[in-house]
Amino acid sequence: MGNPQKSELGDKIAIVTGAASGIGWNVAMALARKGAKVVLSDLNEKDGRAIEAETGGLFVRADLSRRADCAGLVDEAMRRFGKVDILVNNAGFQHVSPIERFSEDMWNQMISVMLTAPFLLTRYVWPSMKAQGRGRIVNVASIHGLVASPCKPAYITAKHGLLGFTKAAALEGGAHGITVNAICPAYVRTPLVDNQIADQAKSLGIPAEDVISKVMLGPAAIKHLIEPGEVAEMVLYLCSDAARSVTGASWTIDLGWTSQ
Ligand SMILES: NC(=O)c1ccc[n+]([C@@H]2O[C@H](COP(=O)([O-])OP(=O)(O)OC[C@H]3O[C@@H](n4cnc5c(N)ncnc54)[C@H](O)[C@@H]3O)[C@@H](O)[C@H]2O)c1
Repeated sequence: MGNPQKSELGDKIAIVTGAASGIGWNVAMALARKGAKVVLSDLNEKDGRAIEAETGGLFVRADLSRRADCAGLVDEAMRRFGKVDILVNNAGFQHVSPIERFSEDMWNQMISVMLTAPFLLTRYVWPSMKAQGRGRIVNVASIHGLVASPCKPAYITAKHGLLGFTKAAALEGGAHGITVNAICPAYVRTPLVDNQIADQAKSLGIPAEDVISKVMLGPAAIKHLIEPGEVAEMVLYLCSDAARSVTGASWTIDLGWTSQ
């Protein structure tokens, strides 16, 4: 896929949000293995510190629903390293509930973390990327940025919005060597999905294996959960020089989910 050689990211500073778990953890590890210095951010300080030690990066605790924390994260990266080359907007969470029971607080929280924070972080890293004439922004969206499922109104809205923002930012970044892309995975084997499997097994009254095979993989052509490392490989490609002409795109890793 033209992934970067170790030396290619050797001088790069990357911010990865939601890096204490799942996809973010795998992305941070993959970038670090290619030589990037990774600024890891998450709400979860304990696991964040563990990956800080593992990658030799820098952990910055941030609650990305707070504008001040978004600004503080980029400020800290700039203070320590003087620039940002790569931003991976990955932090997110799920809440499953029908519209009439969906709380306004939960709506606001989901939009803040999964739509407003990627906008704010992009805005804050933009001057550094523009000054260097090169930048890579990767937004971890979802198949739920492309299609809907029941009982996830805020998640689906945030992810659809994130794809719109990806295109808008790509248009503005083109003149400055900044590419902006989104990745749209179907179900990836992470703690976020483990929790959903348990919740759905309980609410539907069926075994966890049936939730995976009949509910989550029902519309999929390939019948397995995606591994988080597969998403990390795509992030590496999008951060590489080989992807210099790729921008404004939504990359599905969806087992054929959205092909029908
Ligand atoms: N797992 C999947 O099947 C799947 C599929 C499509 C898209 N995604 C997306 O991938 C991203 C990562 O998901 P994951 O499956 O690795 O989940 P995960 O729960 O394993 O990790 C998400 C991380 O985000 C952090 N986070 C949540 N709220 C935060 C906040 N307010 N401030 C800072 N950090 C916060 C959590 O602490 C956690 O460490 C999310 O945006 C999710 O929507 C996941």
